[in-house]
Amino acid sequence: MVAVPYLKVKRGVVMKNRVNRVVLIGTGFVGSSYAFALLNQGVTEEMVLIDLNKDKSEGDAMDLNHGMPFAPSPTSIWFGDYSDCKEADLVVITAGANQKPGETRLDLVEKNAKIFKGIVNHVMDSGFDGIFLVATNPVDILTYAVWKFSGLPKDRVIGSGTILDTARFRFLLGEYFKVDTRNVHAYIIGEHGDTELPVWSHADIAGKNIDDWIRKEENFRKEDLNSIFLNVRDAAYQIIERKGATYYGIAMGLVRLTKAILQNENSVLTVSAYLDGEYGHDDVYIGVPAIVNRNGIRDIVELDLNSEEKDQFSQSVNVLKKTLEPIRK
Ligand code: LAC
Repeated sequence: MVAVPYLKVKRGVVMKNRVNRVVLIGTGFVGSSYAFALLNQGVTEEMVLIDLNKDKSEGDAMDLNHGMPFAPSPTSIWFGDYSDCKEADLVVITAGANQKPGETRLDLVEKNAKIFKGIVNHVMDSGFDGIFLVATNPVDILTYAVWKFSGLPKDRVIGSGTILDTARFRFLLGEYFKVDTRNVHAYIIGEHGDTELPVWSHADIAGKNIDDWIRKEENFRKEDLNSIFLNVRDAAYQIIERKGATYYGIAMGLVRLTKAILQNENSVLTVSAYLDGEYGHDDVYIGVPAIVNRNGIRDIVELDLNSEEKDQFSQSVNVLKKTLEPIRK
């Protein structure tokens, strides 16, 4: 194998002795919030903004650059084009139509699948050989589409999945039990959408199962847990009704994922990952806990679901597989 001058391999991970580059495709509400959060958390050395609306992405690049003196570390930010993807470590796609009030995420399949075919072809034509991170809804379906259209290995195509749903779940459980949300360990898995499910059987706070916390909670009512889950599942509808779109939460989730990848963290995050037998299912992208590092998805974590959770998860898989039909062909 010809040694590639700028690559070196350490502990089996391809390391580069050059800077990290993130290319963002789509500078709408989600994309520009992600770019703003990425700059403020000092996660990458290079950030390239691409959008059909060239003025918007150029304006965003200028606006972000002017904040550079306040950022924790310098990030080279520019309004670019698909040729910039060649040297990218990560291409993040937030472009596409978003949910309007009353629309489900799955209603967006037709529109966004067409847009994605063009985007992925342009990226791959540049010689891109990094990792795709997909956020556009329906994210599980579109992540599958990016994998199909790009021909990249499944572990290098990742969807934001239920990372935001899991964050909402942990936030609401932390609020309820009056504990720092970072000490809450609980997962939402399945479709990022109406068929997602809470894994109550593996929910704990500070290492104590949620049932122990319930026993101690004097004002606890049985229906409280279900209402917490419904507030998680329907959060996007509630926010869209009020402000027309959601973008800060998902943007921060995307930054979290970007950090886990670029900094080779091996963190467990509930991303949209390709199942190849895990959880008893295959040929579908769906939200599951997965170990994320510099090479993409290292492993999928198979939780020991109870029978009710297994049934709900299978229902979620079936809904996604049915919606996938036009893309799978
Ligand atoms: C939400 C969008 C990202 O759940 O689907 O807010």
